[in-house]
Amino acid sequence: MQDAPQAFTFVHSNRRIISAWGGLDKLGELAKEAGTSRPAVVMDGFFENSEMAARVGAMLQTACGKPAAFHFVPAHEPDTVTIEACAASLAAASPDFIVAIGGGSAMDTAKVARLLLSNPGTAESVSGFGKRFKPHASLLVAVPTTAGTGSEVSESAVAGKPDSDIKLIFRSQEMTPQIALLDASLCVSAPATVTAASGYDAVTHAVEAYVSKAASIMSDPFAESAMRLLGQWLVTAYKEPAHPAARSWCLIASCQAAIAFNSANLGLAHAIAAPLGALHHVAHGLGNALALPAVTAYNEASMGAKAAVVARAFGAATAAEGLARLRHALDLDLSLDRFVPSDEAREKVAQAAMKSGQVRMNPRLATIEDMRAILESMRTPNGGAAAGVKVAA
Ligand SMILES: [Fe+2]
Repeated sequence: MQDAPQAFTFVHSNRRIISAWGGLDKLGELAKEAGTSRPAVVMDGFFENSEMAARVGAMLQTACGKPAAFHFVPAHEPDTVTIEACAASLAAASPDFIVAIGGGSAMDTAKVARLLLSNPGTAESVSGFGKRFKPHASLLVAVPTTAGTGSEVSESAVAGKPDSDIKLIFRSQEMTPQIALLDASLCVSAPATVTAASGYDAVTHAVEAYVSKAASIMSDPFAESAMRLLGQWLVTAYKEPAHPAARSWCLIASCQAAIAFNSANLGLAHAIAAPLGALHHVAHGLGNALALPAVTAYNEASMGAKAAVVARAFGAATAAEGLARLRHALDLDLSLDRFVPSDEAREKVAQAAMKSGQVRMNPRLATIEDMRAILESMRTPNGGAAAGVKVAA
């Protein structure tokens, strides 16, 4: 700490984060405070006809004296068609207050659809990096119902193109929800498999942001706190779905991890999870769970003093072992071969992963041979022991 600080860029475009068990009840207050007259709700289709949807509708009706327009998002990961359908619904409602409720799919859909309201065109036309967009005048409130993506505070979104292997990435500060409302009571109904996979996505955000080449004194405290909280509480949230403390800490950790990766970016596990999703329909969190222990075994010697911090956060002698043990406890310790059945298919994943910009953020610069070795190691479940990755020295 005696050296001068390294240069960094830290971004945070969200205005307010509210965390309270049962905090969904604050929606009416927030709508009133914003002076809204045209509310709209973008909600995960999982909640269609639910008591929660009725509760949200009633709150907004009382606050604004008008019924909210509802749009339900299909359960699968977003694609350009579902985003454009959402944008059309929103355009018809012309909202000044938008509530996005659900997992990453619903929040990402709402974020990109809202961007299209002030920047009309196809969903693809607003994808990519470094583009300038007109902000939309509405207030966007994001309410996550899973602890995972951190989409409620992130500047990014991901969506597929139907009938293609392409994953589009969207990135703009104009997409970030102004208000993130964390109500962990909404996570209680998530199926255990979703809790495990989305929770491991949050773990991967925290670890990859922490060891990234773009990590900084500003992002590290968020990433470190997220790792410690997930190390302590994720298995409890998985095994005891109604545990208020476990659900609350995991949701806060997922939000912190996203604040960290907004600036610090991500690494090889995300570079691998993207083609696993696009080419083999592996759910994003599961893809990260398949990759992160092997990636960390590969990275560990390049992580410097941070290796011990990661190991401690996950209660093991090494970072790779801690992450493998957590994965095993969440029943995500599966062979890559279940999803990528041939050498050729694995080679395609390796080639696609190498094209990701995240490769450059990883603490160790991987070659295609290294990537192949990591994928080879992912074929063998390791029962909670550290993975071995055989790369040429
Ligand atoms: Fe992720």
